[in-house]
Amino acid sequence: MSRFDSDFTRRLLDKARGTFGSMDAVRCFVAPGRVNLIGEHTDYNDGFVLPAALDLALVALLAPREDNKAIVVSIDKGPDDEFALDNIPRLPNHEWTNYVRGVVLALQAKGGQIGGFTMVVGSTIPVGSGLSSSAALEVATGFGLGKLFGPELSGPELATMCQRVENEFVGVNCGIMDQFIVANGQADHALFLDCRDLTTEHVPIPSDLAIVICDTRHPHALTDGPYNERRASCEEAVEAIAADQPAVTALRDADMDLLNQARGRMSEPVYKRARHVITENRRVLDSVRALKQGDAVTFGRLMNESHDSLKDDYGVSCDQLDQMVNICRGVDGVLGSRLTGAGFGGCTVTLARTDAVERLSEAVLTQYPVQPEGPALVYRSRAMAGVREEDPKAILGDL
Ligand code: GLA
Repeated sequence: MSRFDSDFTRRLLDKARGTFGSMDAVRCFVAPGRVNLIGEHTDYNDGFVLPAALDLALVALLAPREDNKAIVVSIDKGPDDEFALDNIPRLPNHEWTNYVRGVVLALQAKGGQIGGFTMVVGSTIPVGSGLSSSAALEVATGFGLGKLFGPELSGPELATMCQRVENEFVGVNCGIMDQFIVANGQADHALFLDCRDLTTEHVPIPSDLAIVICDTRHPHALTDGPYNERRASCEEAVEAIAADQPAVTALRDADMDLLNQARGRMSEPVYKRARHVITENRRVLDSVRALKQGDAVTFGRLMNESHDSLKDDYGVSCDQLDQMVNICRGVDGVLGSRLTGAGFGGCTVTLARTDAVERLSEAVLTQYPVQPEGPALVYRSRAMAGVREEDPKAILGDL
């Protein structure tokens, strides 16, 4: 699969020419989407995650302007946006450019002298499918404007800043995983991240294994409520455990024994949600060990267990995700399959032997029912590098 198809690059180039006039001063920043291999709903519990950056990506073309304005346009999303840089309110109604606005404010708060700029955005990351299209937008903006005007942040600083923008400016209470992998991914590696102290390890993905993403086409719109409710349950469980174990400040610190001792102090749904987080952290550690030892079979089994725990204990799967996972698991050469991201819809991630990819794709396309949004989409992706600057010509061809 080529990274950007010719239709995408033509539309992006047309839009860029129409918007910038001259392409001479245009710089090009690419931020990947992400898939989480394992470690779901653990990041906001100070736990462990193992995501990888995708070749589905967002491209942000940026050029400075003479005036003090920001102009932000997209090849497929509306409305366009124009704002003055000395007063940047949040737009009502979840406008997509709030991510850009928030990042500009955050860079200014870090001392960045952000001058006027024009930004043209195009993305191959499907929106609302759990592949972190919004983290890609935030990180591309922060990285690109940092290159143009400063400050240039380290990968972890950029990720932390963008997460704060999403929490405090956009108003989505996400954890650190998405922004972190988008900012810090490494080609052909998954990123093992400790979300408490942000220590990392890049773990190679063997070349005989394929990462396959299947979009259920069941969008996960309006998930803030159920997501925040899960977060609240985790906090309740911590409080119940900490009543006699004050050293426990996050579910990361608990094991099943401590949870069971506190079981009488929490409701059954809270117990089950906490059990998911505690067992999921264990699965991440075990799967990192398995990956390093070349034990793909164990890795796949842990992925399956992760999905089942997200479905039965955490309650964030849905019929479409379960159906997709079952189809994938039935294909010869598939090692494991699970929902990826927050859940409630969106995509699954499947680990397969490379020679099983075609079979897998065919099974999904023939067995998975067409949704009102359309038929399933199947992508195979390499693990890619995190956000980076590229030569515009390398993506757009002759300018
Ligand atoms: C969303 C959030 C992440 C993480 C996942 C669940 O993608 O943005 O921070 O919590 O859900 O693992």
